[in-house]
Amino acid sequence: MEIIAIANQKGGVGKTTTAVNLTASLAARKKRVLLIDLDPQGNATTGTGLDKNSLEQTMADVLLDGVPLMNAIHQSPAGFDVIGANRELAGMDITLMGQANSHELMKNAMAALIDDQATSKKKPYDFVIMDCAPSLNLLTINALVATDGVIIPMQCEYYALEGLADLSQTIDRLTELNPKLHIRGVVRTLFDARNTLANDVSDELEAHFGDIMYKTHIPRNIRLAEAPAHGMPVLAFEKRSKGAKAYQKLAGEVIKQSLQNNV
Ligand SMILES: Nc1ncnc2c1ncn2[C@@H]1O[C@H](COP(=O)(O)OP(=O)(O)OP(=O)(O)O)[C@@H](O)[C@H]1O
Ligand SMILES: [Mg+2]
Repeated sequence: MEIIAIANQKGGVGKTTTAVNLTASLAARKKRVLLIDLDPQGNATTGTGLDKNSLEQTMADVLLDGVPLMNAIHQSPAGFDVIGANRELAGMDITLMGQANSHELMKNAMAALIDDQATSKKKPYDFVIMDCAPSLNLLTINALVATDGVIIPMQCEYYALEGLADLSQTIDRLTELNPKLHIRGVVRTLFDARNTLANDVSDELEAHFGDIMYKTHIPRNIRLAEAPAHGMPVLAFEKRSKGAKAYQKLAGEVIKQSLQNNV
C-alpha cells in the first residue's frame, strides 16, 4: 500500500481536483484506492458524490475521537472508497494544542489500517490518496508525517518557483519526523499552453526540478470544473474530455513510478 498526500499550501491550485481525479483514474485501472479528505472544506467529499454533512463518521471522528479509519470508510457513488471531511475538522489545531502526539494521529491511524488489512480477507488498498487543505496546519502536518510521498499540484505562475522551494524546504524539515517523506512528483495544473508566461514558468520548473516533474500537464478544462457540481470525477462525467485524458495519463505515470520502485 502506497500513501500519497496531495499538498500545496497555496489555495486553488487543483489539489482536490487532482486527488479526486487521480483516485478515479487509478480505480479505473483496477487499483484499489482509498481517498481521504483532510480538508474541513470537504470538497473531495462532495466532489465524489457524498453528502459531507450527513456522513456518520468522518475524519473528525478519526482524528479527534480515535475512531479507526476502517470504521469511517464510505463507498462513494463514484465507485471507490472515501473517508469524508466537513467543518467539524476545522477546530483540530486548537482542540489538540499541547497534546504530545498531535502530529502523529494520522500516522497511528494509518498503522492500524495496515494491521487491519493484513488480517482482512479483502484485497488491501494499492493506494491511499489524501487531499490536504491549503495551509501548513496541524492537519497537513499529520498528512505529511503519515505519508510516503507527496504530489504537489502547481500552477505555472510567476511565484511558482518560490512556492515550490518553500514547500520542499518544509518537506525536508519534516523528514526528521518521517524519514520516508519525499516529493513523489510535481504536476502542472490549470495549464494553458497558449499562455507565454505559463510556458516560461513551466520551462523554469523543468530546468530546476526536472527530475521530480511529471510529464503530464493538466490543461485548464471546463469539464474538470463542472464535474464536482455533479458529484462525479471527470472520468464518470465526460470521459472523452481533455481533463479526463490528462488525469488518466497522470495515473499511468504514478503507476509506472510504483513499478519502478522509484517512489
Ligand atoms: N484543470 C482545471 N481546469 C479547469 N478548472 C479547474 C482545473 N483544476 C481545478 N479547477 C477548478 O479550480 C478551482 C480550484 O480547484 P481545486 O478545488 O481543485 O483546488 P484546491 O487546490 O483543492 O483548492 P483549495 O486550496 O481551496 O483546497 C475549482 O473550482 C476547480 O473546479
Ligand atoms: Mg481543495
